Amino acid sequence: MNVLVIGASGKTGKLVISSLVNSSQHFAKAMIRKAGQIDAMEELGAKPLVGDLEEDFSYVFDEVNAVIFTAGSGSSTGPDKTTAVDEEGAIKAIDFAKEKGLDRFIMLSSMGADTPSIAPNATEHYLKAKGRADQHLLESGLNYTIVRPGALVDGEGTGKIIASPSIPDKSGSITREDVAEVLTACLNETETYHKTFEILNGDTPIDEALKRV
Ligand SMILES: NC(=O)c1ccc[n+]([C@@H]2O[C@H](COP(=O)([O-])OP(=O)(O)OC[C@H]3O[C@@H](n4cnc5c(N)ncnc54)[C@H](OP(=O)(O)O)[C@@H]3O)[C@@H](O)[C@H]2O)c1
Repeated sequence: MNVLVIGASGKTGKLVISSLVNSSQHFAKAMIRKAGQIDAMEELGAKPLVGDLEEDFSYVFDEVNAVIFTAGSGSSTGPDKTTAVDEEGAIKAIDFAKEKGLDRFIMLSSMGADTPSIAPNATEHYLKAKGRADQHLLESGLNYTIVRPGALVDGEGTGKIIASPSIPDKSGSITREDVAEVLTACLNETETYHKTFEILNGDTPIDEALKRV
């Protein structure tokens, strides 16, 4: 499968690229926004495509079978960029995927995107933006999977998670490496099709946990 990773130069995006390349089942296409990131993507084994979520990036969807969206404006930018990237950029990506006849779209969302009002102010704006993008994907007709992790941490993956539509104790965290493995595994796991679920590090091997969501 030709898989387009949007946000490929990000911490999680890079790990998704490595996971796709290691899987040997997929060919990774990496959407990046700076030409200076081309060499790094090629070294990882991906085909780099330069595009910006705030502009027209429809051309990166050619010869793509599935999308994994891992981009985000980050916490150092203001609410305007959160809206432009996390919400409008994601919505444009969903619409382009549909226009180009793609079927599969996997969204890296966030725990709390369905309950933004319980979060502090800046986080509430971010979670509302993520929630609106998720809702657009739900209504798009695409074969979606919406993955909502809790706090992301660096470090080696454990290969074990808890995955559920709503995890009762949301206080844990999950390594970006495990999130990347989950996003890649979702591509072919039919039990994740048309599903939205939360993930944290836990006790169940990723493949097994995804079969039960
Ligand atoms: N941090 C958490 O605890 C947490 C928890 C739950 C969910 N999440 C979600 O997980 C996502 C990934 O997290 P992360 O830490 O891996 O993110 P990250 O390292 O900040 O990566 C974000 C990526 O988005 C790209 N991007 C930003 N604006 C763009 C634009 N206009 N056009 C194209 N690409 C653009 C960045 O590109 P550049 O390299 O060019 O900047 C970068 O590749 C977050 O965005 C968030 O939505 C995070």
